[in-house]
Amino acid sequence: MIERQARAHRLEVTRTIAALVIVAAAAACKRDADVNAKVSASANADAGAHDASAGAIATPADKWSEEGMLAEGRRYLDDADFRRATLVESLSNPANTYSRQRLDSYGLKTKAWDLLPEWSPQSIPFTTAMGDDLRAKRALAVDPTTPRLWDGKRPTTMAGWIALGREVFTAYPLRVEVYLEQTLSRPELAARVGVKPASDGTYPGVRLFVNVDGKSAVGITCALCHASVKGGSVVAGDARREFDYGAMRLAYHDATKVPIEAELARRMRTWGPGRADVTEDDDEDPVAIPDLWGLKHQSFLTQAGTIKHTGPAALAIRQETQILHSNHQKVRPPRELAFALAMYIYSLTPPPAASGEAPSAAKLETGQTLFKRHCKNCHSNEAYGGGPVAAERVGTDQALATGQARGTGKYRPPALLRVSAAGPYFHHGAVPTLEDVLSPDRLGASYARGPLAKGAVPGHRYGTDLPAEDRAALVTFLRTL
Ligand code: HEC
Ligand code: HEC
Repeated sequence: MIERQARAHRLEVTRTIAALVIVAAAAACKRDADVNAKVSASANADAGAHDASAGAIATPADKWSEEGMLAEGRRYLDDADFRRATLVESLSNPANTYSRQRLDSYGLKTKAWDLLPEWSPQSIPFTTAMGDDLRAKRALAVDPTTPRLWDGKRPTTMAGWIALGREVFTAYPLRVEVYLEQTLSRPELAARVGVKPASDGTYPGVRLFVNVDGKSAVGITCALCHASVKGGSVVAGDARREFDYGAMRLAYHDATKVPIEAELARRMRTWGPGRADVTEDDDEDPVAIPDLWGLKHQSFLTQAGTIKHTGPAALAIRQETQILHSNHQKVRPPRELAFALAMYIYSLTPPPAASGEAPSAAKLETGQTLFKRHCKNCHSNEAYGGGPVAAERVGTDQALATGQARGTGKYRPPALLRVSAAGPYFHHGAVPTLEDVLSPDRLGASYARGPLAKGAVPGHRYGTDLPAEDRAALVTFLRTL
């Protein structure tokens, strides 16, 4: 999907690429010198703190402790061989597109992505007033004195990393979004496709930034999909379930009269809210945007378990490669920013559950007992997620699990923290409520409540054969997670 946009931008890119290469090369030389200075300084500091004898980077026994994560961060930042080894180890299926692209280009030291210049952008919040400017066809530009997102100083504490990660999550533009730019000039349309301003008049997840070609542009950040806007406040980590990317693109073609292939338009109409295609191939195959709760406890990342979560560096590499891929492989984010993102993601905790009527203790206990008996063997970890299961065994729609893009033949049980607010359910967002997840009705041809299509939503039959009372008790328990 991203490739398709890339093609649309190819003309613009070729025109600017020559100029870029020269600037980038000069910048890279300068930055390399900075980085070298920084690396030796921090290596010395580490040697003092952890391993005075050898000067090597010591790894504490528990890599998920704060100290362990910081130590792995230093290896990720300073040791190219470690990065390559971590990448190789973390790919569940080396044959899918996701893996092949990375195996071909990541962590090779003297070629491919390691040679891309680092890019720390100038980026400012996109405001409702800027939307008015767009509507009036006034050009928008970032003030050239705006500081870059990162000052080049490596944080030294976990709190420092998390704060930097929050900045990347909200402010680092992944790519130019022409469809969104068009949408923002019409607030009623923006609201209809789920792009809402916060109470401070900024649009979370949208930035005006200076692109690598030096031109100001509207871009999106992680927060467009992975933060919600509720009652004017931003909930980072909560999936933006109203965001309808397909409808947004169709509205763009409608308003601009730029033609769109009929088949593509048909597929865009089937996306629906809360789903996005984040693959790097040409197919349009959206899946549900997940909440980012409890990821530290998951031994695999993504709904098909594409990445073995061998340690914090595996997530940092996911983020580093996602960002450089999004921006058409012209620049890469400073790795400090990718590691900061990982630390920030681990720090995200769900907001308090909506306070409804307290369930009876007896019902809750029954629900918990049933969960242990019927669900816990898969939803086994602290966040109620678990290790991947063969997709045939789970039986839900197989397209993502067996697809070329990210497929592994498996689905990973998602974390169930705040699952009551996470519908529609499953990787494709095909079931609207927890009651329906557990209801046998869902498995029959006459089922018509699915948001994607009428008819049965097969698979994940766990619990559907229980008496109605037990299913109700299970739902009661799930609502407390
Ligand atoms: C256009 C919407 C969109 C944007 C922007 C986006 N994501 Fe995602 N993200 C998704 C979707 C959809 C998935 C599910 C992919 C899958 O499971 O195959 C996902 C999955 C993830 C996961 C894996 C979660 C899990 O359950 O294992 C992480 C981590 C993540 N995104 C972080 C980020 C970060 C950090 C950024 C910014 C650099 C970002 N995403 C930008 C839509 C988006
Ligand atoms: C054999 C392993 C297994 C068992 C047993 C199991 N699950 Fe799951 N569960 C999964 C997998 C895998 C998924 C993801 C399926 C998909 O997205 O296609 C999932 C998804 C879910 C979801 C959707 C969450 C979301 O955010 O979309 C819920 C809810 C859920 N399971 C609850 C339960 C309950 C309740 C039980 C017990 C009655 C149970 N599961 C038993 C493996 C299992």
